[in-house]
Amino acid sequence: MPQTEELRGETILEASGVKRVFGRGQGAVTALDQIHFAVPAGSMVALKGRSGSGKTTLLNILGALDEPTEGCVFLRGREITGLPETEKSRIRRTEIGLVFQSFGLIPLMSAYENVEFGLRVTGASAKSNRAAAEHALEQVGMRERMRHRPMELSGGEQQRVAIARAIAHQPSLLIADEPTAELDSKMGLQIMRVFRDLVSFSGMTIVLTSHDPGIMELADYVIALEDGKIVSHT
Ligand SMILES: Nc1ncnc2c1ncn2[C@@H]1O[C@H](COP(=O)(O)OP(=O)(O)O)[C@@H](O)[C@H]1O
Ligand SMILES: [Mg+2]
Repeated sequence: MPQTEELRGETILEASGVKRVFGRGQGAVTALDQIHFAVPAGSMVALKGRSGSGKTTLLNILGALDEPTEGCVFLRGREITGLPETEKSRIRRTEIGLVFQSFGLIPLMSAYENVEFGLRVTGASAKSNRAAAEHALEQVGMRERMRHRPMELSGGEQQRVAIARAIAHQPSLLIADEPTAELDSKMGLQIMRVFRDLVSFSGMTIVLTSHDPGIMELADYVIALEDGKIVSHT
């Protein structure tokens, strides 16, 4: 299990010369180009940019879901690009947590079952799953409501459950693509507070995308993308 706390401050994630081209010939689209940055462990980074600027493409590459056309990505000092699929899948299951805009919970399962099922899918040992699932739900403030099904929860609560599912295996890196896009601004801020607490108390590193300026303010670093290139980094 990654010892996230011990890594705080060191570079945990690095992109070097990342380029991603979709298709070929006339119809080729350069979704990312000349992407370089390093993320210190225990920080929150927000990627901003218009629709089509390359945010999702970059998150997919950082999360070992996609390969760049050129360049490489290092997670905890180890190159994760160019690895065999089985190894990338192992890294995703152990070191990375993913959160999506649409929550992606299973409707017929309670909050607890969704998180526990997520752990089973990653192949975690059944013995400790219960404690891990309850701990993750506690971390997002949903332990009291863990017997509820998604439809009995607000959008913000559903997203908190989805975050619990994403962190139950204690990944060092949490990747969230537009996690607040389907929520009103109040619930969006609640989600951001959950992320901030994960960074502060668990030393987790979070990379997320958003359009919302209020969300950006809560990040430690903001990287702005335009047409697949980094135009500012603060
Ligand atoms: N699988 C794909 N095939 C072809 N083009 C793609 C694919 N995924 C993304 N693109 C293109 O890459 C660019 C960046 O897309 P995306 O990363 O989804 O942007 P964002 O998340 O910032 O809205 C867009 O021009 C998009 O059309
Ligand atoms: Mg996107």
